[in-house]
Amino acid sequence: MFLWGTATASYQIEGAATEDGRGASVWDTFTRQPGRVRDGHTGDVACDHYHRWSEDVTLLAGLGVNSYRFSISWPRVQPDGRGPVNERGLDFYDRLVDALCAEGIVPAATLFHWDLPQALEDRGGWLARDTAHRLADYTAVVAERLADRVPLWITLNEPFVHMAFGYGLGTHAPGHTLFMDALPVAHHQLLGHGLAVQALRTAGAERVLLTNNCTPVWPASASPEDARAAEAYDTLHNRLFNDPVLLGSYPDLSAYELDGIDAVRDGDLEIIAQPLDGLGVNYYTPTRIAAPSGTLPLPWEDAGVTGHPTTAFGWPVVPDGLRELLVGLRARYGDALPPVYVTENGCSLADEPGPDGVVDDQARVAFLDGHIRALGAAMAEGVDVRGYYVWSLLDNFEWAEGFTQRFGLVHVDFPTQKRTPKASYHWLRDHITTRPAPWNGD
Ligand code: BGC
Repeated sequence: MFLWGTATASYQIEGAATEDGRGASVWDTFTRQPGRVRDGHTGDVACDHYHRWSEDVTLLAGLGVNSYRFSISWPRVQPDGRGPVNERGLDFYDRLVDALCAEGIVPAATLFHWDLPQALEDRGGWLARDTAHRLADYTAVVAERLADRVPLWITLNEPFVHMAFGYGLGTHAPGHTLFMDALPVAHHQLLGHGLAVQALRTAGAERVLLTNNCTPVWPASASPEDARAAEAYDTLHNRLFNDPVLLGSYPDLSAYELDGIDAVRDGDLEIIAQPLDGLGVNYYTPTRIAAPSGTLPLPWEDAGVTGHPTTAFGWPVVPDGLRELLVGLRARYGDALPPVYVTENGCSLADEPGPDGVVDDQARVAFLDGHIRALGAAMAEGVDVRGYYVWSLLDNFEWAEGFTQRFGLVHVDFPTQKRTPKASYHWLRDHITTRPAPWNGD
């Protein structure tokens, strides 16, 4: 059965930041620091999903999806990131999972979508190797409670983005600006992934994935300098997080004057490279790279993709990039590539209800139509794709952009929390009903 779903993440939708024993996460700290997040927005309330989850499950059922990807808030389950477990936090996910199962919706749970317990950040966060072991302990606790009903597990969401924005550039929590010195964060997250896979297997989890943010990388010109910079970027963004998991080795970073990862210890790669049941791929847009101009201490520069329509975020809309990406992954990894699940794809638009109350987001309909066609094309070219999840079910807290970027199939009026399904919600429902898999239909 092909999985059609939508995706969300705990900090972006739940709210209830101090309720029922939840501890603080790095995002609670970060959003309180002046100037970090647009307009000083926080996830304290967000979509109030912690209280409105039942209404949100009804929206999923109305959409006709057969799967829902959500993430579990680590500090809700383990307020200090280690030690005592907060049963009330687990109870919340227990209720959610039961409600999804009752609707015939396959729960897909992500264990870590960036909301690290602040208490662990105080002990070094992902710069500390110990955090990998703490992830494994927390995973064991969650899996013991939920693995009997959750068949699909994702250990980490986009370790590249968490490393690059959270530790390299400082635009996401915890807000460090270490540039290339952030590399140990890659290794410790991947080690945490491997240890979490072990914990999930012990608990009898059916399918285990890692979700990476992947992008096709295009050199800005035919010059050898731009080609070399593009290769360096591809290595750091894509290969650094796929190679160790799928091939059991890190790419050679020395070729690009990047330091090797000195945090690696004997035996780590065996833990990281355990077989997976799938690779989660999040795709938003391709990246065009030029040789560095020296503005930032990085061996490349983002040259910007031009000549395509853009989203409210300014991200170029390139549906064929999804086909190119998936076919490229298959070419690069061959039989080492497990089945692929597109665990996120979507766009932000300036959506507001019209005078008739309708949110007519035709640009999102076109976005989804184009990307689902591209997915079908990749499958026709031999890529084994098992699922497609739209980011996102609801307009939500878009990290450093606060509530200003709307990605939802459902509009949320944040002051009243009123949910209004957009035109894209109705379009996707019709699409799913008439085409059980992306390649069916015209
Ligand atoms: C993340 C989401 C985010 C989305 C849009 C992905 O990188 O996993 O949390 O909201 O992109 O920026």
